[in-house]
Amino acid sequence: MNSPAVPGPPVLQVDRLTKRYRSGERLLTVVDGITFSLGPGETCSVLGPSGSGKTTLLGLCAGLDHPTSGSVLLNGQNLGDLDQDRLAELRNRSVGFVFQTFQLVPTLTALENVMVPLELRGEPGRSWAWELLRQVGLEDRAHHYPVQLSGGEQQRVGLARAFVNRPRILFADEPTGNLDADTGEKVIELLLEMNRDFGTTLLVVTHDLELSGKTRRILTLKGGKITSDRESVSLRPTVQVPDQTLSGHLRDSSGTESEPA
Ligand SMILES: Nc1ncnc2c1ncn2[C@@H]1O[C@H](COP(=O)(O)OP(=O)(O)O)[C@@H](O)[C@H]1O
Ligand SMILES: [Mg+2]
Repeated sequence: MNSPAVPGPPVLQVDRLTKRYRSGERLLTVVDGITFSLGPGETCSVLGPSGSGKTTLLGLCAGLDHPTSGSVLLNGQNLGDLDQDRLAELRNRSVGFVFQTFQLVPTLTALENVMVPLELRGEPGRSWAWELLRQVGLEDRAHHYPVQLSGGEQQRVGLARAFVNRPRILFADEPTGNLDADTGEKVIELLLEMNRDFGTTLLVVTHDLELSGKTRRILTLKGGKITSDRESVSLRPTVQVPDQTLSGHLRDSSGTESEPA
């Protein structure tokens, strides 16, 4: 179960965020005036067809890309006010990012890749990096280079690296997209464990209904706009009706039976 979103200032505040690209004569609006915020410990999936702007939105929120207009506040800090060094520091301190395309350093082993964020901070943590590799089932691949790993294994190294700083907020772009069902399941558990144990806020792009069903909130994008912002059906709190059925089960508002929480 997700960690309940605790009240407090938002971890992420996105206001009228817009990203445009010039394509020859035309101006292409990829992210179109998006506004939303996420509280501490909140879990949120982003759904939407290919090309709807999901990856671009994540990159803007994590400070990896600059908007054409609008703003992103991370932990109350406006990313637009920070120079490159301070932005890099904020990212290293507070943000984890799992890339759709892995983005591992080809000249470093799996273990060394996981340790990169720690080394940038000048912190030791080899045993914690090992522990994370173990959790993603890759302890026997620790000394392999990315080229010696399958796509799914590289994805898992990317996850371990994103977790290593115990980030305040984790952005993940289709983290189970390249994984078989069993490994995907483990990765989902790991994401939710991170949320539960460290209160990490999660913003996850996914086509995986198993995963989106486990986040508390689901945003849907189309053409760079949010077309729906709803609570996940499976996690909606059970509504207790006074007239309980004889079976003793409670019914939620959709009329489907569910066990009391
Ligand atoms: N650097 C870029 N230059 C021009 N167009 C881009 C660039 N990056 C993304 N796009 C376009 O923006 C749209 C949204 O891309 P993306 O955010 O990757 O979508 P999604 O992740 O939802 O599939 C696509 O049409 C894509 O071609
Ligand atoms: Mg994408």
